[in-house]
Amino acid sequence: MRATWLEVDLARLGENYRILKNRLSKKTRVIAVVKANAYGHGAVPVAKKLLELGAARLAVATAGEGAELRNAGIGAPIHLLGSLHPLEAEDALKADLIPTLASLEAARVLAALRPGAKVHVKVDTGMGRVGVRPEELPGFLAEVEAMGLFVEGILTHFAVADEDLAFTRLQLERFLEAVRGLKKRYLLHAANSAAVLAGVASDLDFVRPGIALYGLPPDQSLKSKLKPILSWKARATLLKTLSPGHGVGYGLTWKAEGGEILATLPFGYADGFPRALSNRGFLRLGQEYLPVVGRVSMDQTTVLLKAPPPPDAVFEVVTPDLDPKTSLTGRALALGTINYELATLLSSRLPRMYH
Ligand SMILES: Cc1ncc(COP(=O)(O)O)c(C=O)c1O
Repeated sequence: MRATWLEVDLARLGENYRILKNRLSKKTRVIAVVKANAYGHGAVPVAKKLLELGAARLAVATAGEGAELRNAGIGAPIHLLGSLHPLEAEDALKADLIPTLASLEAARVLAALRPGAKVHVKVDTGMGRVGVRPEELPGFLAEVEAMGLFVEGILTHFAVADEDLAFTRLQLERFLEAVRGLKKRYLLHAANSAAVLAGVASDLDFVRPGIALYGLPPDQSLKSKLKPILSWKARATLLKTLSPGHGVGYGLTWKAEGGEILATLPFGYADGFPRALSNRGFLRLGQEYLPVVGRVSMDQTTVLLKAPPPPDAVFEVVTPDLDPKTSLTGRALALGTINYELATLLSSRLPRMYH
């Protein structure tokens, strides 16, 4: 038990899943992206719920993340995103993951460890990060298949699906062009959340949404049909009235005029509450915004109150909405980052409750 915790609303996860599902062609299935502890929401309960909702497969970023799902009894196919490094091959196979290949060196190691292993091959259609060039694809497939690996699918990833649909469509064209002449029929997938919402590549064999499942808008907009599913709550560990000139926190960056009511809350930057919110962030208590005063420390944060709170007061650290001051998306905008980062920063040491 801790006096600070996350609550994840799995019914709302279902609502977001259905919003995305309604944008897909009938045959298109969902690979639900649950990497980084399901974007901070807790991989196992979220993955189980997504499979119950009808997701066909899951995707993670590391073999360890895949192993966590397997250890929880999840048997669905799990993709390992990124480009497999030879060092990861053994663990990926142990966890029965489907690696993403873009390097022959990794392919060789994988084939030596497990002839016939199932893989997907990634094509770089414009993002420049991971994937073989479209013109290299036929040669790469031939080599990998000659090694004895089973290439089940081919994928690409969009760089600007949240902001440039023309370039996203160009990436899709390059992808379809690259696979057009191939002798075998591979399973194809490309769309992330933003592409699904925009209807690009939402009719291939699979889509790979992540952020939108959690109700967080991929384009960082504060207007969205999606519903954030995560709340972060806390109780105060200490309340005090400050005397004039009393400083608060490391560096004594804030000083009381006298008479202010200060609440100390038991979370800090080690829990994923950014230190950059020192003297500029807010929490919520009922309808009221409470300013963070002093520096956020590793395990403690201090806020000001206008009046003594009720004894059982539950402070809202993250609200499950698009509030500019207290939601993940609003706060990300204020801090010059993205909701993806603030969600994935939520530490595994925070207890998570599901309802
Ligand atoms: C290869 C790949 N596919 C899909 C996703 C999901 O993206 P999003 O969370 O924007 O839907 C990611 C996330 O980074 C990814 O790396």
